[in-house]
Order: sequence, then structure tokens, then C-alpha cells
Amino acid sequence: MSHFVLLPGDGIGPEVVAEARKALEAVAARFGLSFTFEEQLIGGAAIDATGDPLPMSTVEACRASDAVILGAVGGPKWDDPLAKTRPETGLLGIRAQLGLYANLRPIQVHFPSASPLRDAAGVDILFVRELTGGIYFGPSSVSDDGLVARNEMVYSVPEIERVVRMAGEAARVRRGKLTSVDKANVLEVSRLWRRTADRVMAEEFPDVDFEVVLVDSMAMHLLSRPRDFDVVVTGNLFGDILTDEASMLPGSLGLLPSASVGDDPPGLYEPVHGSAPDIAGEDLANPLATILAAAMALRYSLDLPEAAAAVDQAVDDVLAAGLRTADISGSGPAASTSEMGNAVARAIAM
Ligand code: IPM
Ligand code: MN
Repeated sequence: MSHFVLLPGDGIGPEVVAEARKALEAVAARFGLSFTFEEQLIGGAAIDATGDPLPMSTVEACRASDAVILGAVGGPKWDDPLAKTRPETGLLGIRAQLGLYANLRPIQVHFPSASPLRDAAGVDILFVRELTGGIYFGPSSVSDDGLVARNEMVYSVPEIERVVRMAGEAARVRRGKLTSVDKANVLEVSRLWRRTADRVMAEEFPDVDFEVVLVDSMAMHLLSRPRDFDVVVTGNLFGDILTDEASMLPGSLGLLPSASVGDDPPGLYEPVHGSAPDIAGEDLANPLATILAAAMALRYSLDLPEAAAAVDQAVDDVLAAGLRTADISGSGPAASTSEMGNAVARAIAM
């Protein structure tokens, strides 16, 4: 028996998480597994209900689970720059509380026709984004007069070592190549990142082909030669930005899942996209990113590779059959969130 905590959150979060749950229920039926589900509050929904974007009851439920599936957090309702707390604090909080220092974001192009780029066929990149450090978690302040604000980018050697090691291990079981992305020509913290990555790779991964690339040039190479990359490791902020850019290789943020993992279970699985308040509640969002995130949960947290493969295959099958949500339908007909989710659940059942 496996227990999932679902954190639907805000905006389209509840809609896409509902479809991921359908996929997991279909997997349980097909493979004779027993899954239990429990919903907890996070983000703006949690602020509205409790005043806190990450109630302690949510953290405790997550700790007691086998895997956590998250939708998205945030929205205009909670965007007042002077507000005491923000939905995003809940998401950063759960990542930190669970020690999820690595965020795995696979970028695969199965249907090049959905890409706005001319030549995205065959792209297969795994981004490993550091997730509990860097400028997201460094000291920050605003001056008393409100005229100056700062955020510090801080990394320590152990923080860099562990995420580089995880990326090195991933490269070993893929195509054996790792690219580390930094801004070492300008930032002290990036020079420490580079020295540390160089050393870990030379000492522990001599079998992995290792290179370093500056983040600005990576933004370009990602589009000009995306097939040259296998595993890419980078800090929190650079990883956030580069993976939104990379979503244009498959063609939509709505197709990108992610797994946030640390040294101990549970992992947290979420789409790379946000809460998309503009389309929330309209049954328009693409649920595939969250469904694929559920597949990553089956693979990494539950050690059920066949069940995970069945979900991946079902997603490929419905796309191959031509079903498209609005984000990837171009001028063709668009399926709703629930139509897409139901089609995937049916494909898993077959
Ligand atoms: C992401 C999101 C989050 C991040 C936000 C919502 C805090 O953009 O998961 O990429 O910046 O990490
Ligand atoms: Mn992001």
C-alpha cells in the first residue's frame, strides 16, 4: 500500500492534480496496487483557510506519506507586494522542510510538431536544478525607507557537492555527459560552484564527460544545439529560468513534469508550470505535466518502473492519437483538461 499526499494549491492546481489522481487510480487498478490519497492545504488556499501558506499539519502529512503530488501555488489574489506572507513561501517551505535539494526536470521531445522551434526532434535533456539554496534562500532585506532591497546568492561546498553528485549519477545511467551552468566570469558564488563541480567530477566521475557553460551562453545553446546536452546541473535561479525556456523545445510548459528529491523520502512531484490564474477553473489547462509528474513519483518514490512506464506510454498514446489541449492544439480542435485526463486514464487501463 502506498499513501499519496495531494497538494492541489491554487489556480489550475486543483484541476491538474485531479487528473493525476485519475491516472494513479487507473494504474492501481491495472497493476493490482493499493493507493490511498489525502488532500492538504498549501499556498494561497492555505493562507485563506489558516493564514499560513504552509500549515504544520501539511508538513506532517507530507512527512508521513510515500510521495507528494503538488499542483501550483500563487495568483493575483495574494500578490500584494506589502502582504505579510505569500503563497510561494509555502512551496519554498515544503521543499526546504523535506530536504528536497535537487529538482529533476526532464525535457523530452516526443512530438516535434508541437514545438515552435524548427528542429527540436530527438531532444532529451535532464535538468538538475539545485532547489533549497542559492538566491532563493539567501539573506534578504529592504531598507527602512523602502528604497533599496537586496537578495544574496549563497552556496556552500556541501550544497554544491551533493547536487553535482546526484547529477553525475544521473549522467552515468544516461548518455554519460554532464554540463554545469554558472556565471563564474562575474559571480564569486559561481566560482565556488565551478571549482567544486570540477573537483567532484574529476575525483568521483572520471567516466562522465564534463563541461562548464556560462548561463547567458547556455540560454542560447539550449535553442541552437539542444541535442548536445544530456544532464545539466545548475543553481536554483538559473535552473528556474532555463527550464521555462527549455519548455519551448517540447512546445509547452504544460508538458513538463518535475521531481524534487533529497536523501530521504518522500519526494515531491509537480509540474514545472505555475498556477495560470488566467485559465483557472475553465477546464482548459493541460494536465499532462502533472500526470507525468505522477509517473515520476511511481518511478522514484514507489520503485514501480512498470507502472511509471505505463503512464508515460499512455500519455504518448493519447498524443499520438492526436488529442491536444489548447496550449498545444495550434489552430486545431482542443480537448479540455478532463477530456485529456480521462483519455490518459483509459489508455492506462487498456
Ligand atoms: C517553479 C516555480 C517556483 C520557483 C515558484 C512558484 C516559487 O516557478 O517551480 O519553477 O520559482 O521555484
Ligand atoms: Mn519556475
